[in-house]
Amino acid sequence: MWRGRIVRSSAPHSKCGEAARSPWVQIPPSPPKSKTYRVQESYNATMKNQGFHGQPYGIEWYKNRAFKSLEQIDDGVWDYSDSVLVYIGAAEEDYESIQQIDSPYYKLVTKPERSYLENIASTIADELPDESDFIDLGPGTEHKEQFLFDALKRQKKHFIYKPVDISNKFLGLATDYARDQGIVVDPILSPFEELATKLKKPGRVRFVSLGLTYSNYSPHKILNLLKSITGAEGLAFINSQIRDRIDMDKLVSMYTKDGYVIMKTKLSLLGLNPDEDITSHYCDDGIRLWCALRNSTSQLKQIGIMPGTKLLVLQSLRPTSESLQQDIADVFPRYRILDTNEPFVGAILKT
Ligand SMILES: C[S@@+](CC[C@H](N)C(=O)[O-])C[C@H]1O[C@@H](n2cnc3c(N)ncnc32)[C@H](O)[C@@H]1O
Repeated sequence: MWRGRIVRSSAPHSKCGEAARSPWVQIPPSPPKSKTYRVQESYNATMKNQGFHGQPYGIEWYKNRAFKSLEQIDDGVWDYSDSVLVYIGAAEEDYESIQQIDSPYYKLVTKPERSYLENIASTIADELPDESDFIDLGPGTEHKEQFLFDALKRQKKHFIYKPVDISNKFLGLATDYARDQGIVVDPILSPFEELATKLKKPGRVRFVSLGLTYSNYSPHKILNLLKSITGAEGLAFINSQIRDRIDMDKLVSMYTKDGYVIMKTKLSLLGLNPDEDITSHYCDDGIRLWCALRNSTSQLKQIGIMPGTKLLVLQSLRPTSESLQQDIADVFPRYRILDTNEPFVGAILKT
């Protein structure tokens, strides 16, 4: 899973990754809490998300998905990077707080991305037909879709806006926001992975926008998923922050600092308590967030996840422009790179 083209650093489980610069942030053990307290605490956090009980994608669905997503990638090293597991319960609030306008994340990522999206929105709208389904995968809270709404409106192109999210809360925000502008909205509560089969046969051309969530997945995996959602004669859009156009050291230190918060709810889905069960965490130069386990659970031990195991908990990859283009070309024979010499580069992908 290490893609030499993207990542300059060595894998964090290698000697080199742990040696000279000691990037691992040590987490001292806290006084033990009872198992019941730990599970209750994570449940409470999750249930704070309004309407979570009784939803098709409730806590049991998340827990099942968490276990199913675990994939061994090396001796004592497991991939637990499934991005859908990041945004549950309390973690949704954490996501919103890192998006605040004066936060380092906003300055380093969201602000330049918004400026890029504003610059290219008309070019994307040019490529769309007069009628389309605008399928917005994981709209989030930043309303980046507004640039496209405006561009499509300027070009008098019609669309039905179909936001898709596993989170009721984020789906509701996106739905209200678009409806308040008089846009026809058809929200879809679903994991992206079930969408291709759930969408009806296309009457309209599909435009599937994933945006920056692209960086949370392994490129080939998400590009193939996008291809299946887009269907025949459709278009998709992704964008990425380019590693050699930004201060990667700043980004690494920001993710190292925020890393613990980002991973705590996600780890609780596995029955782990980050306050007790983790010795350290670390963000590598590819923007992959890792942690090392101090303790494991009987369920995790059964599948070979022992104390000392390293887990990849989140990825937010920063490719070079060349590797971004290569990944795209591997999956989509037809694409258009939108490079304005800004820190972000996007692409329109065509099926
Ligand atoms: C990074 S956030 C928002 C991204 C937003 N497009 C942006 O650029 O700010 C990702 C959103 O996608 C949703 N999401 C991530 N993976 C998903 C999946 N596999 N299925 C459904 N929703 C998913 C999350 O619930 C979250 O609301």
